[in-house]
Amino acid sequence: MDTIQIQGGRRLQGTVRVQGSKNGVLPLMAAALIIPGKTVLKGCPRITDVSAMADAMTDMGCRISRQGDDLIIDATGVHTSRVPRQCGEKLRSSVLFLGALLARTGLAILPYPGGCTIGARPVDFHLEGMRRLGVFVYPDGEWIRAVGRPGGGSCRLPMASVGATENLLLAASCCAEPVTIQGAAREPEIVGLCEFLSAMGADVRGAGTDTISITGVEAPGPVTFRVPGDRIIAGTYLLAAAATGGRILLQGIPSGMLADQIDIYRQLGLRLWENRQGILAVREGSLRPVQCATAPYPGFPTDLQSQLMAVAACAPGESRITETVFEHRFQVAEELCRMGADIHIEGQTARITGVPRLAGCSVEAKELRGGAALIIAGLAAEGITRITGVNYIRRGYGDIAGDLRRLGADIRDVRE
Ligand code: UD1
Repeated sequence: MDTIQIQGGRRLQGTVRVQGSKNGVLPLMAAALIIPGKTVLKGCPRITDVSAMADAMTDMGCRISRQGDDLIIDATGVHTSRVPRQCGEKLRSSVLFLGALLARTGLAILPYPGGCTIGARPVDFHLEGMRRLGVFVYPDGEWIRAVGRPGGGSCRLPMASVGATENLLLAASCCAEPVTIQGAAREPEIVGLCEFLSAMGADVRGAGTDTISITGVEAPGPVTFRVPGDRIIAGTYLLAAAATGGRILLQGIPSGMLADQIDIYRQLGLRLWENRQGILAVREGSLRPVQCATAPYPGFPTDLQSQLMAVAACAPGESRITETVFEHRFQVAEELCRMGADIHIEGQTARITGVPRLAGCSVEAKELRGGAALIIAGLAAEGITRITGVNYIRRGYGDIAGDLRRLGADIRDVRE
């Protein structure tokens, strides 16, 4: 069984380049399906979610290759509107093929995306939004069937859903009449997708606000696009530096993309400076407790909540973390408690009393970000931590063990 093994107790020190964003690249890959030609995604991360997306697109007729860090997608030969069943099981982002296929062919048949341990994660906003654009959408057992070219119109999302906003933008990207999305998500990944669709020829306004208008392009042109840096990975490494008392230089991400996180780093006692070389982060003095509630952007990201919990577990005093986006996102607390953390969950709030030192032991990653949290806990702990469930971590982190080793951690990715 593959494991990540960490001998804890080393301060992180050095420079690390942040990989391209997982949540940024997946909608861009879906967008590439719309273009009957070539898309080059520069700085594409080497993660298993990208491979799963690429496998599905290859099955649908795309030709996909890698040249160094670039992913080249030629979607000229797309010959089906049916998304392979196994893609739905592996990947929630497979639901983005709904909007992309409707834009390309006016027909989409796709499996309901698989269950997920962090919450129910329904797709009702996606389906209702497509209906508002005049598409006929109906469930068929485990499949979603959608027929019709999206037309103009407006839809209001009941919640600022990242995936639903992306799906509607994809669906509208070839529509000659304007489409307005109200209550849209404002995440930097949405802005990235809007820039891609603009490069393809669409007219997009309001990206980064809660109202986005898009007028599509009938003949989308080829696009070369750089995948933005992964702000969640940047946050993971900054939190690791906080937990270990380190001093690290992050490259490949501007601090503007971390605007939602900065206040929490200040609370923890991490100081940040930015210049042309990158973002320098130094923990000054001992860790301090935090008060934090996750929220859609520009709130603190739910995708960093578990990693923050691992740091809070070592911060003297009482921290409180409230999760407002997903209902089952405190699963890692149990594993952290096995390492000696003192965490009490009351509804959607975790009360964490910092302990002087966590103790390394065998723990299991049950989902992606919880896995990253266990790595941070292992770096800060006394003794050896062995983490199983490494496959979850590989979904979003290309080489987290390598990156942290280059920062001075004693960590190994053991493949068996
Ligand atoms: C995306 C991110 C994920 C991140 C999340 C919130 C990707 C690939 N994934 O997920 O890492 O944690 O945003 O920042 O980008 N909801 C509904 N009905 C819907 C859609 C969503 O009820 O049709 C609810 C969800 O259950 C959740 C909330 O809305 O409670 C926000 O979810 P959403 O923003 O859609 O998350 P994802 O796009 O799935």
